[in-house]
Amino acid sequence: MLPKPHSVKVAQTIPELDKILDPYRQKQQNVGFVPTMGALHEGHISLIKQAKAENEVVVCSIFVNPTQFNDPADLKRYPRPVEEDKQMLEAAGCDVLFLPTVEVMYPKGDFTTLNEDFGMLDKVMEGASRPGHFAGMITVVNKLLLAVKPINAYFGQKDFQQLAIVKHFIAKHVIPINIIGCPIVREPDGLAMSSRNRLLSPDERKRAVLISQTLFKVKEMWGKSSVADIKDFVQNEFVKDGYMKLDYFEISYSDTLQPFDGKRNAQAVACIAVFDGKVRLIDNILL
Ligand code: PAJ
Repeated sequence: MLPKPHSVKVAQTIPELDKILDPYRQKQQNVGFVPTMGALHEGHISLIKQAKAENEVVVCSIFVNPTQFNDPADLKRYPRPVEEDKQMLEAAGCDVLFLPTVEVMYPKGDFTTLNEDFGMLDKVMEGASRPGHFAGMITVVNKLLLAVKPINAYFGQKDFQQLAIVKHFIAKHVIPINIIGCPIVREPDGLAMSSRNRLLSPDERKRAVLISQTLFKVKEMWGKSSVADIKDFVQNEFVKDGYMKLDYFEISYSDTLQPFDGKRNAQAVACIAVFDGKVRLIDNILL
C-alpha cells in the first residue's frame, strides 16, 4: 500500500490557528514558522525542510501582503497558485498552512503600518528603491509572529536586507523568537529561485541568468579589482544586454548594509536589483 500522504491543516483565522497549535504549545513543543507570499518553489521548501528538522510542528503562512508592494501593478500580477502551493507543502511535510484573508491581517480596512526606525538599514538598496516596502513588510511579519508565536522563524538570505531588518527588529524589541537565516536556493543555471520568475517570458527567463552570472564574476574579481572597477563591470554587463535594466548594484558591509569602503575588515555582500522587462528581480552573494 502507498503511504498516506502527509496532510496539511489549513487555518484562515487566528482562532482556527490557535485551535490547531494550542495542543503543541501546551506540551511545550517547538513551533517553527516560515512566512511566505506563496507561489512556492524549492527556495521556500528548503526553509520548510530546515524548520521540519528543528521543530516538532511547522507552520507556513501564505499571505500576499498589500502594504509591502510599492507598485500596485506588481501586487496585481503577483502569482497566487494556492492549490499547487498546498500540494508542495504536503509533499514537504509541512503541518499547518496559515492562509489569512486581507481582513484578518488588516481588520476594518486599516492598512496602517508600523513607524519603525531601522537606523541606516533601510536607507539603502531595497529601502531606497521601494519606498514603504520595509514598513509594510515588518508590519505583517510582526502580526504573523504574534499570531503563530513560534520559537524559531526562518527567512531566506535571498532577501538579505529583509533578513537584516527582521533580525534588528526582533533584537531591538527583545522578542523571544530565534530568527534563522537560510542559504539562497538557485536554479541549475544559477538564477536565484523567486516567485516572480514565473512571470518572465521564455526570452526574459533566458536573459535572467546574467544576474547570477554577473554576481559570480564579481566574487571572482573581489580582492583583485577596486569597488569602482567592479561597479563599472556590472553596469557594462547590463548595458551590453540592452534589454534588462539595472536598478542598483551595491557592495556593502553584510552587518550594517552600508557601502563597503575598505575601512573595516568585515564581511562584504554584493547586492543587485534588475528589471527584466516588467519583472523586478533581486539577488546577492557574500564576498
Ligand atoms: P517571499 O518572497 O514569498 O519569501 C518567503 C521567504 O522565502 C523569505 O524569507 C525569502 O527570503 C525566502 N526565499 C525566497 N526565495 C528564496 C531562495 N531562492 N532561496 C532561499 N530562500 C528564499 O519574503 C517574503 O515572501 C515576504 O516579504 C514575507 C517575509 C512573507 C512578508 O510578507
